[in-house]
Amino acid sequence: MYEFGSTTALSGDELFRELHSGARALVDGEPDAVANMANIAALIAQLMPDLNWAGFYRVIGSELVLGPFIGKPACIRIALGQGVCGTAAAMGATQRIDDVHAFPGHIACDAASASELVVPVKRDGAVIAVIDLDSPQRARFSDADARAFETLADIVAAAI
Ligand code: SME
Repeated sequence: MYEFGSTTALSGDELFRELHSGARALVDGEPDAVANMANIAALIAQLMPDLNWAGFYRVIGSELVLGPFIGKPACIRIALGQGVCGTAAAMGATQRIDDVHAFPGHIACDAASASELVVPVKRDGAVIAVIDLDSPQRARFSDADARAFETLADIVAAAI
């Protein structure tokens, strides 16, 4: 089992290296998608400061359906194309939103959320899920965060 190191003061590239190596270790040899998504959500919440929600929505038919996460209870079903998550899934493109209140159609699951990063998880070219991060800080997520979570999405794509 993956052992967390001293993760309290990690930042920048060091944090992303831990995120990626931790994710690889957690899903290694484990075929159960729910277990893997649950552990990845926990890893993200442990490593990334200033989040109030971190987890997965899975593409099922024409909807996103809530998957394992850390945070307050959330909207269960989101139509593709709706909100930040549905937009990321429909477009197959990362959505990095500095101010969710300025995003047309943003779905407010937790009133504390101010900024959001949603990254599609693709397998064989199709979006199968999204990783959703919410922060109570405006403009919490950098372009480097977006790139790091796109790499994380590639790491977990075969394991969820
Ligand atoms: N804010 C998201 C909905 C999911 S929650 O943030 C967990 C959206 O607009 O798609």
